[in-house]
Amino acid sequence: MSLSALRQPFQLKSLKLKNRIVMAPMERAMSPGQIQSREMSAYYRRRAEADVGFIISEATGIGRLASLNEPACPRFAGEAGLKAWKHTIDEVHAGGGRMAPQLWHVGAMPVPVHRVGSWEIGAPLDSPSGYHKEEVRVAEPLGDADIADIIASYGEAARYAEALGFDALEIHGAHGYLIDQFFWQGINRRTDGWGGPAIEDRTRFAVEVLKEVRRNVSEAFVVSLRLSQWKQQSLLTRVAATPGEMERWLRPLADAGADIFHCSQRRFWEPEFEGSDLNFAGWAKKLTGRPSITVGSVGLSSDFITDVFQGTASAPQSLDDLMRRFERGDFDLVAIGRALLVDPHWWLKVRDGRTSELQSYTRESHAVLT
Ligand SMILES: Cc1cc2nc3c(=O)[nH]c(=O)nc-3n(C[C@H](O)[C@H](O)[C@H](O)COP(=O)(O)O)c2cc1C
Repeated sequence: MSLSALRQPFQLKSLKLKNRIVMAPMERAMSPGQIQSREMSAYYRRRAEADVGFIISEATGIGRLASLNEPACPRFAGEAGLKAWKHTIDEVHAGGGRMAPQLWHVGAMPVPVHRVGSWEIGAPLDSPSGYHKEEVRVAEPLGDADIADIIASYGEAARYAEALGFDALEIHGAHGYLIDQFFWQGINRRTDGWGGPAIEDRTRFAVEVLKEVRRNVSEAFVVSLRLSQWKQQSLLTRVAATPGEMERWLRPLADAGADIFHCSQRRFWEPEFEGSDLNFAGWAKKLTGRPSITVGSVGLSSDFITDVFQGTASAPQSLDDLMRRFERGDFDLVAIGRALLVDPHWWLKVRDGRTSELQSYTRESHAVLT
């Protein structure tokens, strides 16, 4: 099987990539004081030097205080924080790579006490209706002034991203965090225009975030939007049950300025709807005409939720099915998570046929920065 299609360059607006390999955003929480650490910059540079075309950073909090619920996740705001991110992008460029920060607000995701003990956020949790998941209420619903403040905070972070020299940015709209909490009918109980029974109502917050982000960056600057049907609080919940509903979800997001859809699945080979083998990235591209990124167990035998929560090990896996879909034009870019977390040289080894040197991913590998 030839991987040459993955070695083709990709260009969208000002973003020029030497190949189709993307490092998926992966939280490492190794940045004390919420300041991106030098070790993280070196970790990204190692991937850039190993021919990874496009690196998406671990999720990084916007300026709004409640956007982060951990003390060692980096924030994309403040003088010291931005200076540290400047170092990161300079390192990645020196290594020959391209990079986007993934802008994040955790929403009503409580502090993970098992990891961070008695540390506190210092502000109430932000959420559409106060729910962490259905029937679990942890906060008050956001007021209009706070919603406006959060949207402004995304715009500010976007402006910094371009000013610091990043090649693009990604908005984290997936996995049950703030933006996805607005999409999620079961926990967005608002009836005031920020929620409602129609998917368009629940998409409005993300639309306003995108518009504000676009107002703060140049037209040529690429904005990727990461979405998932699943939520970490509820793996089987879906935002769109049919292709028609998916179109009503994605179209306004494309119109508001999402240049790329980064479609998070746990297993890329799973069809999104009955009657077609297209995956989420395939449908996103077909419905919007925008480029898409696929992700989920590429090159690995089991999915990341199972590995991370049950401690299983994921063994290397063939890319045949991935290439069949890629060559059919289903998606434009391929994101790799755990395989690149455990081994900066994963792509070089795959590219050069050194498959016997590939490593398995284990939960233990998460604890070290290789
Ligand atoms: C340790 C770890 C941290 C993650 N952190 C993030 C994150 O910060 N933002 C995000 O959108 N996804 C995050 N994810 C999901 C990954 O980006 C990716 O979608 C997932 O690992 C599936 O890809 P894989 O099967 O190649 O690992 C994380 C995954 C792992 C394993």
